[in-house]
Amino acid sequence: MPDLVFLDGRYVPRRDALVSVEDRAFLFGDGVYEVTRAVRGRLVEPERHLRRLERGLAALALPYTPADAAGLLDVSHRLLAECGLLGGEALVYWQVTRGVAPRTHHFPAAGTPPTVYASASAFTPPHDRRGTGVAAITLPDQRWARCDLKTVNLLPNVMAKQAAVAAGAFEAILVRDGAVTEGSSTNVWAVVDGVAYTAPRTNYILPGVTRDVVLEVARQHGVPVREEPIFAADLPRVDELFLTGTTNDVMPVTTLDGEPVGTGRPGPVAARLYAALAERIGLARGD
Ligand code: PDD
Repeated sequence: MPDLVFLDGRYVPRRDALVSVEDRAFLFGDGVYEVTRAVRGRLVEPERHLRRLERGLAALALPYTPADAAGLLDVSHRLLAECGLLGGEALVYWQVTRGVAPRTHHFPAAGTPPTVYASASAFTPPHDRRGTGVAAITLPDQRWARCDLKTVNLLPNVMAKQAAVAAGAFEAILVRDGAVTEGSSTNVWAVVDGVAYTAPRTNYILPGVTRDVVLEVARQHGVPVREEPIFAADLPRVDELFLTGTTNDVMPVTTLDGEPVGTGRPGPVAARLYAALAERIGLARGD
């Protein structure tokens, strides 16, 4: 199967897809991106990913219209088909940058075309970890004040995830002013007395598509949910902790900073919400 990607209007072999050293994303991290799941060739919640992308494009004044962005849906389907990814699971990546121009901090001249990149890759979700749960560490949230935008400026996230990996953990849970914001690439939930809490939607968290869908299916299945702060000081006493995100669905955290969370085993609320999410996005039973 050809390994094609989409770059600036053309489908090219991945190894031939080259971006200029003067690309604004290379020089400044000046761009936005999305990661969408595809299950048997169908994108999961494409409209929500598109809306979040459009919000980022508008907030950063990137020269790419909602109509342009909508074209990424067709591009994604063609990539999935051409790369032989219509059968199983895949991730689809979209990135739009402020284009190629001589280095200046301010925006380049009007009319500079954005760089537009999309690719699709086979994906194996970490289902094998769901039965035992994963370890996480807590770290100070050192990011900027627009974490609601999915920009390619991911250095604090990269440093946090690397610290987690170096500690043998799956995720770094970030804490700002005493409250959990989110993980380095996931949203975070805690269960206390049967109620699932996740941080409210502010500029300090990414409004995760999986978070939104889990809120929806929780309400449909009668699982109480609240968008309220989770205080770091309360973490040692929560019954369950779990992560949500495109690349891990609902993932129980059973060890935090080396200590067991709750019973130290995946809990019933995470299991219920995973089952509801799996049904919603069309994962086969037992996936
Ligand atoms: N990350 N928070 C952050 C900081 C993220 O980067 C992500 C997703 C999420 C979860 O959002 P969603 O449910 O829409 O995937 C929360 C993607 C997968 C990534 O950067 O690879």
